[in-house]
Amino acid sequence: MSRNDAPPPALLQRFGRHRPARRTAVAAACLLVVSVASPVMSSAAVGHPTTSGWGQGTLTKPELLSLVSQMTLPEETGMVHGASDTTCATTLPEGCVGEAGWIPGVPRLGIPPLRMTDGPAGVRLSHVETALPAPVGLAASFDTAAANVYGKTVGAAGRATGQDVWLGPMINEVNYPTGGRNFETLGEDPYLAGQLAAQEVAGAQSQGLIAELKHYIENDFENGRQSTSVAIDGQTLHETELVAFEAGIKAGAGSVMCSYNRINSVYGCGDNDTIIKILRQQLAFTGFVQSDWGAVHKMTDLPNGVDIEQPRARNFTDAALADAVANGTPAVAATADFPAYPAISGSQWKQALDTAVFHILSTMNEADLLEGTEYGSHFTGTPTPWVPARPNLASLKADDAAAAQSIAEDSATLLRDDDHILPLSQADARNGGLVVMGPTAIASYYGGGGSAHVTPYDGSTSPYDAIKALANADVSYMPGYDLDGQVVPSTALSAPDPAENYPNWTLTPADAAFAGQPGLLRQQITTDAVASGAQPALYTAAGGAADELDPTINDTGNSTLPANTAWRFTGLLTAPTNPGGTSWQLKVFVNNQANSQLFIDGLTTAARRINIGAYPATPSSSYAGLSESARSHDPANPALQQATYSTTLGPGQQIHLDLRVTAGGQPSQIQLRWVPPDNQTTAIANAVAAARSAQKVVLFAYDDGTEGSDRGGSDQSAGLTLPGYQNDLIAAVAAANPNTVVVLNTGDPVLMPWASAVRAILEMWYPGQEGGTATANVLFGKANPGGRLPVTFPAAANQTPMYDPNCPDTSATGNCPMYPGVVGPSPFLAGATTSFRTITGMKVNGIYEGYRWYDKNNVAPLFPFGYGLSYTSFSYSKLRVETTRSDRGIDVSFIIRNTGSRTGSDVPEVYIGTSPNLPSGIRQAVAKLVGFDRVTLAPGQARKITLHVTREQLSSWSSTAGEWVAGTGDRDVWVGSSSRNPQLHVTVNIT
Ligand code: BGC
Repeated sequence: MSRNDAPPPALLQRFGRHRPARRTAVAAACLLVVSVASPVMSSAAVGHPTTSGWGQGTLTKPELLSLVSQMTLPEETGMVHGASDTTCATTLPEGCVGEAGWIPGVPRLGIPPLRMTDGPAGVRLSHVETALPAPVGLAASFDTAAANVYGKTVGAAGRATGQDVWLGPMINEVNYPTGGRNFETLGEDPYLAGQLAAQEVAGAQSQGLIAELKHYIENDFENGRQSTSVAIDGQTLHETELVAFEAGIKAGAGSVMCSYNRINSVYGCGDNDTIIKILRQQLAFTGFVQSDWGAVHKMTDLPNGVDIEQPRARNFTDAALADAVANGTPAVAATADFPAYPAISGSQWKQALDTAVFHILSTMNEADLLEGTEYGSHFTGTPTPWVPARPNLASLKADDAAAAQSIAEDSATLLRDDDHILPLSQADARNGGLVVMGPTAIASYYGGGGSAHVTPYDGSTSPYDAIKALANADVSYMPGYDLDGQVVPSTALSAPDPAENYPNWTLTPADAAFAGQPGLLRQQITTDAVASGAQPALYTAAGGAADELDPTINDTGNSTLPANTAWRFTGLLTAPTNPGGTSWQLKVFVNNQANSQLFIDGLTTAARRINIGAYPATPSSSYAGLSESARSHDPANPALQQATYSTTLGPGQQIHLDLRVTAGGQPSQIQLRWVPPDNQTTAIANAVAAARSAQKVVLFAYDDGTEGSDRGGSDQSAGLTLPGYQNDLIAAVAAANPNTVVVLNTGDPVLMPWASAVRAILEMWYPGQEGGTATANVLFGKANPGGRLPVTFPAAANQTPMYDPNCPDTSATGNCPMYPGVVGPSPFLAGATTSFRTITGMKVNGIYEGYRWYDKNNVAPLFPFGYGLSYTSFSYSKLRVETTRSDRGIDVSFIIRNTGSRTGSDVPEVYIGTSPNLPSGIRQAVAKLVGFDRVTLAPGQARKITLHVTREQLSSWSSTAGEWVAGTGDRDVWVGSSSRNPQLHVTVNIT
């Protein structure tokens, strides 16, 4: 097996083309950035100090190859895997900033290290930064200029913080609506995602920050992401996510991250077909391929196309690679989970290594990072790492905040506005007329959780404060919802009785002294890992703590659990006899834990426990990864992480509790809390009373998007439901006051059983650190909503692509292909069963992603793709379609007019229908988005829009021919304001 993607001739042209003259430091500092894009945006980001930009590197291909050949083997192998940053303390003005990845470079040759920051919602380091709106909000803007500003903002901030690579944008598409990371995507349509991603790439790289498109490919789900195989055919692959990756690559993206999941059984980072054949050969990608963190499984992933293993060498170790280069590697037989690998000779290993290093160096050259080498314009006689001047972080802050606000306002998607209840006026708020509700009105839901979560600068304004400021009146706030609950009182707890012989506790005879007393039994246990379903061992070594009774679990402040110790709290919880309902939420609040679990009534049922992974939870580090409802809002304990277990308990019902925590490197704090039904009913009753006495209500609701898990697991209906009792709250408030405006902070679709009971619905997504101000501006009409849905909002869970409408049994246990996939026979070994799931269900929809699925099945969603209202109105007229000679595409032109009385933005969308001439094996969408534009017009103003549709957009991918086939013949072209609202139509003959 050899890696036949060695530098192609195209690279020669790319590097040989116009070789800039050697520059002096002064000349370099004066260079202007030539951006690929043409941004027209607020002053934000446009005025950023620029670096010497992208594509300015002066090294030729022979010089790059010469650098590779001068490296020692350990220097080469050091380039192909991540490591801990050993130089941050000395080279960064701020010291170490906790970037996600680092490779050391080769200082001896003047090659600097590469630092890599997470994204895509900004720059994610261990300190505060500008938190931009979640990318799904950017997608809702349908605004390519905003995407360019988004990229530029990240680009400058990334460089200012010592970073060289941005692990973004994420262009996996929303294939089903409960994906944990949907908020990080650019929506469900590949054309939309590609157009925006291309501008993000251009913007970021114009500042000298290398963009990394992720996750290549088909990582559009979180549950089982490390093992699941996506079964996908060639046409689907080419006509869905690959479209967006291609656009990003054409925009010059320097890097691509391969994904955790498998594609047709083979791990994304070891897939010769998708990396070498498609990415390298078909799409001519010349940058470097980096693995997702831990996504490399074999050393052979290197010759199969991965250039860097992250976060460190697990497979691409220096020793193993040196051995492979010296001796080659033998053939490896197939296993249940891996296909067979042929023998690879030592020289083939060396060639693969050289190629990987060449990819990294050629990308660094594009980013102007090799000018301190012997061939660079900043060579001073001795190779010394040199990087272009970095902007000053503080000087970016104001511009970046302005960009965050402007993009959040752009993203505002108005889904309902009956009787024009919006925008609000100051008169609405007079005499206590306006009441604001919902926990995220005061604790801004600015970003989703996981590696995309950026900790924003302090001092950003909450929606409630911003509303008060614009209302210029006393606006009251009523939570309506209890996010944090309270510490479980000792009256509800009783210590375990050894005489009960409950099998899931480990009690000593001495513990009988506490039996039945109010509280839980606290025991010190060892920090050893506990096998699933097993009991932790009691800590019996000298110095261990004696068992004791804790009346409540409230170990905060000074009463903490020492670092590197482990504890267990056991006993019974008895629901009060008169709780006012049966719906309970148990909550664990904890910080600095290596791990923590709460088991309810046993050890084995995953559904009956809370698991909280390691979080060294200081607000400045990983704590930043928590979504808003995963962290405490209790002002007395702001640094605690929280997790919730919702359950039903009858009056007086008893459950067995087993709470464990292992403290990390610092002492842990832990609390056991609950939200009793009474709290919920009281919160709703108070909200209803407040709603009754108000003119208008603005109620904030949220969902929880986070990396690592999909919402609702395999229960799509639960995943699509607003968490907790928010639906009950909205329904009750709307019944009390029909003038209710719901503001959604969600990362993707939710079901809205109350949709017709409220007057207005405004989707603000996760709007970033300036989201409070942006939301208030939209509510009060200072900004006019112009966002459009980048994802379809279903009316019911069974409309989504996770339910096969032809399936006789759609229950979760049925045998129809459904999310989260099925375990099936091994594709490699006859008779063996795979040990991973195959998402035949997920891709059973094939090319029919998003709105195409709803169109194909002829079901009406709640709100269609591309839909959104405005405070003004628009008309379209004079549709004309002309074929273009140069590329055999079409130009679609029409007039758009603002027919209302306010300035506003509209997004006319162009869709194309099916071709009668394609072979029947090629599937076609009823209507496919092929063009859009975001247009801002004053009242009465009109503009002619012309959108170009390329030949490839008029084509379908033929898996049999392995190429695009033009869809000729008569085809419908529509212009409309959503996928379901065609307003102009013409038939065009494609030849
Ligand atoms: C995520 C990537 C991220 C990486 C580094 C992974 O778990 O999937 O998107 O860039 O971690 O933090």
